[in-house]
Amino acid sequence: MTRNWLTIFRRRRRDSVPVNDLAPETLPRHVAIIMDGNGRWARSRGLPRPAGHHAGMGAMREVIRCSDDLGIQALTLYAFSTENWKRPRQEIQYLWHLVGEFFRTDMEELIERNVQVRFIGDTSKLPLQTQNFVRESIRLTAGNSGMIVQFALNYGSRAEIITAVRKLAEQVSDGVIKASEIDETVLSQLLETQGLPDPDLLIRTAGDVRISNFLLWQIAYAELYFTDLVWPEFTRTEYIRALQEYARRERRFGGLK
Ligand code: IPE
Ligand code: IPE
Ligand code: MG
Repeated sequence: MTRNWLTIFRRRRRDSVPVNDLAPETLPRHVAIIMDGNGRWARSRGLPRPAGHHAGMGAMREVIRCSDDLGIQALTLYAFSTENWKRPRQEIQYLWHLVGEFFRTDMEELIERNVQVRFIGDTSKLPLQTQNFVRESIRLTAGNSGMIVQFALNYGSRAEIITAVRKLAEQVSDGVIKASEIDETVLSQLLETQGLPDPDLLIRTAGDVRISNFLLWQIAYAELYFTDLVWPEFTRTEYIRALQEYARRERRFGGLK
């Protein structure tokens, strides 16, 4: 792979948009994002798919910064699904390589920003080196009290629910809990997002209007926002646009206005 696209990417300036026209009370507490379209971004430029993933990391960095600047409580980023193992080995390896790169280039800033890094998904299936980065970023930010950034790595919502259901079945057979005591709170507490408010806003880029096994339980009442822009093109300005649209939505939760 040439360094060409790297240089192009690095020259891209961070766009700055005034964020103060968003009233804090209109902001989502938790934003979840399906960062899709890296491959299409690359293909449209005649670049290899990894170049798209690299550019996508830049967009991710800006969305993290912007969320933190705005005071959003939690941000969950879908980076690798349980279905993404179907991709060519080389592409998967590059994605793990990017986790290491992100760790090296961004961890210091996240620590400075008082961000707490978490992961959802089965990270035990990741290469050992990637698991080290995962562990280290958790350790280095565990004491932070600011925004929570959750990376979904080898995450699948059905797998998450099955794990929770198995635990419940064990608890019932061990007599820890009665089947009749299982309710939404009990199940929620066994999910990996335990302790966080459900996402208020789910964003998916790149034009596909589907959920792709992401946070199925947790998005029961999330506002959904789809954009045709591919992930590397999702700038601060676009993010603010999504948040403005969210602020205009009327959430009824089954009730009346
Ligand atoms: C999203 O971009 C990133 C991951 C799933 C890792 P894609 O790689 O899915 O990009 P497209 O959808 O092929 O354009
Ligand atoms: C969803 O994107 C997963 C991530 C963004 C990590 P995909 O590109 O894997 O989704 P599908 O295959 O189009 O549903
Ligand atoms: Mg995709």
